[in-house]
This record gives sequence, C-alpha cells and structure tokens, in this order.
Amino acid sequence: MNSNELYQKSLKLVPGGVHSPVRSFKGLHTTPRFIKNSDGAYLTDEDGKEYIDFCMSFGPLILGHRNPKVETAIIDAVKRGWSYGACEKYSLELAEYIISRIPFIEQIRFMNSGTEAVMTALRLARGYTGKSKVIKFDGCYHGHLDSMLIKAGSGLAGTAEASSRGVTEETAKDTLICELGDEAAVKACFAAHHNQIAAIVIEPLPANNGLMPQSESFLKFLRKMATDNGALLIFDEVISGFRVQFDGYAGFSGIRPDILTYGKIIGGGMPVGAVAGPKAIMQELAPVGGVYQAGTLSANPVAMSAGLATLMQLTPQTYKQIETQSQKIQTLMTEWMKEFGFADYYMTRSGSLFWNHPDMASVSKISEIPKNLGTRFYQLFQTMLEKGIYLAPNAYEVGFVSLAHNNDVIEDLKNKLWN
Ligand SMILES: Cc1ncc(COP(=O)(O)O)c(C=O)c1O
Repeated sequence: MNSNELYQKSLKLVPGGVHSPVRSFKGLHTTPRFIKNSDGAYLTDEDGKEYIDFCMSFGPLILGHRNPKVETAIIDAVKRGWSYGACEKYSLELAEYIISRIPFIEQIRFMNSGTEAVMTALRLARGYTGKSKVIKFDGCYHGHLDSMLIKAGSGLAGTAEASSRGVTEETAKDTLICELGDEAAVKACFAAHHNQIAAIVIEPLPANNGLMPQSESFLKFLRKMATDNGALLIFDEVISGFRVQFDGYAGFSGIRPDILTYGKIIGGGMPVGAVAGPKAIMQELAPVGGVYQAGTLSANPVAMSAGLATLMQLTPQTYKQIETQSQKIQTLMTEWMKEFGFADYYMTRSGSLFWNHPDMASVSKISEIPKNLGTRFYQLFQTMLEKGIYLAPNAYEVGFVSLAHNNDVIEDLKNKLWN
C-alpha cells in the first residue's frame, strides 16, 4: 500500500488518521506521508520517495536518525530486558551524567513525555509554594495537560479561557495568560492575584508558534518578579534543552529558573520527559515529599540508554558543527526562497532551530505573526515536499537541523532546491 492508501485506511481506524494532530497535514492540500524508514538526515516513505528531513521527529534527533552509537545502545539495552518497573542503573547513569555537566541541576526525575514533565513541574511548584495560579505566555506550548490548553481571554491582562473543549472553566481560572514581552501584564497579574501565584512558566526560547526569541531583559524581569513575589520560575526546555547548548537556554542566558522541564533530546528519540532543579525543591516529590508523581514506564531502560548515548556525543565541537551546518542551510534556503517565488519569506534561525515565515524579519510575540500564515505556507511546504525536502507539516512549527545534516546532505539540498 502506498502512503495515500495507508492514510485512507487509517482514517477509518484512528481519529483523523493520526495519533498526534500535527501529523495530519491539515490545510496543506496533500495527504500525510507514511514513513517506512529513516537514516541520518533522510526519511523514506512507503512510496519509496526519499526526503531530507527538517522535522527530525520534532526535535529529539539532534544527532540524526539512527545514529550508530544510539542504535547500538538501544539494542544492547533491549537484549537485557526493556521494562522492569524497578530500580536499575540506566537512569542512574543518565542522571549522574546530566548533573555532572549542568551544575545548576542537583536532582532530576524521569518520566515519559514533555507533557508529563510540565504537569509535574506545575504540581511541584504549587505544592512547594502552597499557591494555586500560574502565569503562562500566549504562544508558548507546554504539552497537552488541561491547565496549559488555555488561551488569552478578552478581558484584563491575565484573563484566560480554555483553548480545547473538555477543559473546565475552573481549570482555566488558575492559568493567567500574558503576552510575551509584556512586563506590565505580568506586574498586573501579580497585583491582581496577590500571593496566589505559584509559578511563571515559559519556553525561554519560544519555538512552538514559530520561533520567537525573547530579550534577555524580559527573562531577567521574570526571574526578578518570581523571586520578589514568592513564586517559582519554570523554564520549559523541552525543545531548547540540550539543543541551544548542552545546558540549554538557562545555561546560555545565565538566568537560573527554579524548575526545568526536559523532553525530546534527553531521550534520544525514545519517549522521555524530565523535571530537574535544586534539591530543596525536588525533595518535595514523593516518596520524600507530599507532591505525588509516578509512572509504570518511567525511566524506561531503553529510553535511558538512548538518552545517555545521545547526550554523551554532545560536545562543544558537536554544537559548533551543527551551527556551521545550520548557517549553510539558512543561506541556501533563503537564497532559493528569494529566487523562486517566496521573496517575502524570511528565515528566523536560532542555532539549529529555524522558522520560515513571510512579511516580518523577526517575530517576538503572537500578535506579530501574519494572520494568513497557514494558507501561505502550504505552497512553500508542497514545493519543498515535491523536491524531496520534508519540512515540519505546519506553518507554526520550527525546523530542526541535526549533526547528520552534513556537507553531503547540504550539497544534496542545493541540488534538490535548484533542480
Ligand atoms: C516546549 C514544550 N513543552 C512541552 C511539550 C510537550 O512534550 P510532549 O509532546 O513530549 O508531551 C512540547 C512538545 O512539543 C514542547 O515543545
């Protein structure tokens, strides 16, 4: 069966034919490609067509598909059993390795997804502070837990409503929404909800509604507001962790949050999430403290092995190499867009993350994103797809460059673009 036949079959068996909405190619006027296999920077679909992959599983694969050392680590782990529900050495080694390379982390707890990590971080912040409300920023994505599926309301700063059916009004009331960069709105929230705010949660490098880098002064302001008001600052580094540099955006900026959440790269492409921070806060988690958190498959040995094999290859030299490759890709794609009908497009890039978008050279808050982005993006997406270049299938998703996007791949990209 080819991709389209598989998709038609899937539509009958699975809601929308997919297990995560963005995979559906909604609004892109083509059907999702079913992937048969992958290698390095390439995907091959069930129709036998090969693509240079710039989606890279939405971020975990910083070394590329089927990195040999990660593949070996996974196979070795599987041969010893793939789930124990008991203590094992794999997660201990991964914890020790991370803590040895990120001095501001004292303890870490592994779970199964970024969503779980954020859910736990928020519960931990509430348990630690004894407060209930959380400030979230419009345009940041923190997974699909109820309290983060909230959008800005139409009233005063901070007012919010559910962005998904099934999320109760009661839940929405505890999430206050501010615009990125809006210091006055954050101040107004603290003034209006005096002593009730447990945490400010932010993607320090927002990368889920396009790529919207924030000023250092705004992040410093959030640090100060949290400290001054007895709230915790949570950096959701599910994308930026181990990608911006090994110690993530917190390391890069020098701004220290109270809690960090990780996912994606930390599991090397296996299902993982993690919450990390200073011991004094992390000790609030069960079984030591009273904040409950658990998981049948948490710290799965195969995932822990994939994570460790990935992280151990992330040296300063690796990041330098990925940066050089990303620069070359940016130059090529930008040149091609200017020449071939997408002259109004820009590529915003931050290291190995990029976002192609029309009209404005840079965007730092959701109100600056062009309103008709989706309808304009599909032409770019389809043109690239036909050429064998697989962008993330949504106008608001960022692109990911990996170590596997080496000079040979870049040469192939050039050929694909100009042929
Ligand atoms: C910043 C951020 N937080 C949380 C999540 C949720 O992670 P997961 O999809 O593993 O549940 C994502 C997913 O893309 C993310 O980008």
